[in-house]
Amino acid sequence: MRLSPHLRKVRRLPEYEIECRELTKQFGSFTAVDHVSFGVKKGEIFGFLGPNGCGKSTTIRMVCGLITATSGSAFVGGTDVALDPESVRNRVGYMSQKFSLYDDLTVQENLQFFAGIYGIRGKAQKKRLDEVIGLIDLKEVRQSLVAGLSTGFRQRLALGASILHSPEILILDEPTSGVDPLSRRRLWDLIYDITNNGACVLVTTHAMDEAEHCHRLTMMQSGKVVCMGTPDELRASQITGQVFNVECDPLFPAVTVALTMPGVPDASVTGSRLHVRSAVGGPSMEEIRKKLTDQGIHVESIELGEATLDDVFVAVAGAVA
Ligand SMILES: Nc1ncnc2c1ncn2[C@@H]1O[C@H](COP(=O)(O)OP(=O)(O)OP(=O)(O)O)[C@@H](O)[C@H]1O
Ligand SMILES: [Mg+2]
Repeated sequence: MRLSPHLRKVRRLPEYEIECRELTKQFGSFTAVDHVSFGVKKGEIFGFLGPNGCGKSTTIRMVCGLITATSGSAFVGGTDVALDPESVRNRVGYMSQKFSLYDDLTVQENLQFFAGIYGIRGKAQKKRLDEVIGLIDLKEVRQSLVAGLSTGFRQRLALGASILHSPEILILDEPTSGVDPLSRRRLWDLIYDITNNGACVLVTTHAMDEAEHCHRLTMMQSGKVVCMGTPDELRASQITGQVFNVECDPLFPAVTVALTMPGVPDASVTGSRLHVRSAVGGPSMEEIRKKLTDQGIHVESIELGEATLDDVFVAVAGAVA
């Protein structure tokens, strides 16, 4: 079928709002990011996980056009970042891991400063500042100096500063680091609100409960993407064997005992229970009960559990390390 001249002019919307194709970054002979490929769709919250130093922030900085890739490409809203980093920076809301706020300015003055950088001035600036201050819930400290703010408030302000220009693409590098559970929940509510309005979010976190909030996740290790999928897909694909939850006493020595068993790659305390992962061909429920009991640990109950994203993280990071 031949398209009419009008239709031919219509630009095809990109499948992904953020897309990396074989993105690579070398610092001298060290490869920090190694042929990383993934895509984030409109309305999606995409989690970026992996141990310290695995290359998450470096990948993000390339996506934002702040550093150049050694090879491969990053596209934002269909634009090749290498060809037009300036327009990409204007479209993206970026909250860096160490977001710089001005301690000697108030909350309002900080937002005014960042609004100025985005070219938002006059009445439009006042309107947008009111909106954002309401959104990040910092009305009471609007006139307070940032120097006196707690970490949670600073993180909210940093998020506010990164969304002043109403970006449709939000990139957040550990936005909840050092933030208490209530403030973390507020920040996540805000992230949900932003995606419900059609934006897409790329977010890094070390908190696996937060990873559960993501529609899809990728885990990196030593610069490489190791796996990708929904939280359920990652649990199903990365955790073979079984997981048991054990009520026992004493709890911490039980971890040490469980870890001595062949076929137990991981054991930890989760809440008030022992959480044991048994590999394929590893010990059964009864064998674990017997081993613990033989070592003087009282086993109150033992049951089949569900793998957590913590299990996935430890399995993936442990397998490649
Ligand atoms: N400018 C640079 N020069 C040399 N090496 C660098 C530079 N920036 C980052 N690296 C190295 O690249 C690797 C990846 O760093 P990156 O900050 O991307 O990790 P990360 O996954 O964000 O870690 P974290 O979870 O600790 O934030 C690290 O080994 C780091 O030391
Ligand atoms: Mg980082």
